[in-house]
Amino acid sequence: MQVAVREGPQQPKIFYGEIIADLGLSLGRAQRLRRKMSQQNQMVYASVSLVSYYSQLNQLQPAEAAILDHLRDRLPTMKMLDIGIGGGRTTQHFLPLVGHYTGIDYATEMIAVCRRRFAASSQPANLAVMDARDLRQFDDNSFDFILFSFNGIDYVSHRDRLRILKEIHRVGKPGGAVLFSSHNLQSMARLFDYRQHLSRNPLKTYADLAMWGLTRLLNPAITLELINAAPHLVLKDESHNFRLQTYYIRPAEQVKQLEFGFNTIEIYPWTQRVKLAPLSEAYLEPDLWLYYFCLIT
Ligand SMILES: C[S@@+](CC[C@H](N)C(=O)[O-])C[C@H]1O[C@@H](n2cnc3c(N)ncnc32)[C@H](O)[C@@H]1O
Repeated sequence: MQVAVREGPQQPKIFYGEIIADLGLSLGRAQRLRRKMSQQNQMVYASVSLVSYYSQLNQLQPAEAAILDHLRDRLPTMKMLDIGIGGGRTTQHFLPLVGHYTGIDYATEMIAVCRRRFAASSQPANLAVMDARDLRQFDDNSFDFILFSFNGIDYVSHRDRLRILKEIHRVGKPGGAVLFSSHNLQSMARLFDYRQHLSRNPLKTYADLAMWGLTRLLNPAITLELINAAPHLVLKDESHNFRLQTYYIRPAEQVKQLEFGFNTIEIYPWTQRVKLAPLSEAYLEPDLWLYYFCLIT
């Protein structure tokens, strides 16, 4: 892939998942950037402000509610693995319905909150501090339903994301259901194009252009051309005050990533209970994040 980015002292501080390889970075530097992304994001998720924020969330997102309805009759017999549970938003909905519930998060503080929150639950929850990149504590073919909600998979590098998908595939049973969401790179084209922020309302134009400017400033190497050309990239977006480095992917590329071991892939805009059909409709969808529902092959 051709990407015009300067080398040497001008080298961008922001990187692009594995596209960094195409930018001519040395292997060592690429590894350091990857590690830095993971470590920084993990620290941010362990911070008091994020633990408090995620502890206060309660509602299922529409796409999650649609899948819960879809699986409802089978949930009582299902062993569920809920990855990246944060403050337990999804736990409170699924724990009372599934046959057996395991919730994990790599932030000790998030799991501590959940242990307190669900201590009195009549249905026992198995809650553990664990990194999705390494699920070796679980045997192969252990779970009927695996959830990684609210874009939790987007806070590791491209390479680690593929590791997570492999781990999910390994610990899930053949025919088991998987639901996760991920940021949609197609949504970024609008944000990075300043012309999209000009409107008749001067206040709105001002606010939108300020956000556009800040996003450009904090992502100096990312251009509209790059967004339109890249299959996936990592950037700092406005959520949690630009503190996280977030992986964005084109839906067509996400489907490719899943093809090694998942089938019957469905895509839902996060705001809707209705899947995009045919699948190719998702390849134009501009929603900020999308839910992917599929079965393990
Ligand atoms: C955006 S929050 C969502 C929290 C919760 N699922 C919700 O929907 O409210 C993402 C969560 O995933 C966790 N997470 C991110 N990467 C992870 C990883 N590699 N392993 C385990 N947890 C991870 C974070 O600590 C955080 O709690």
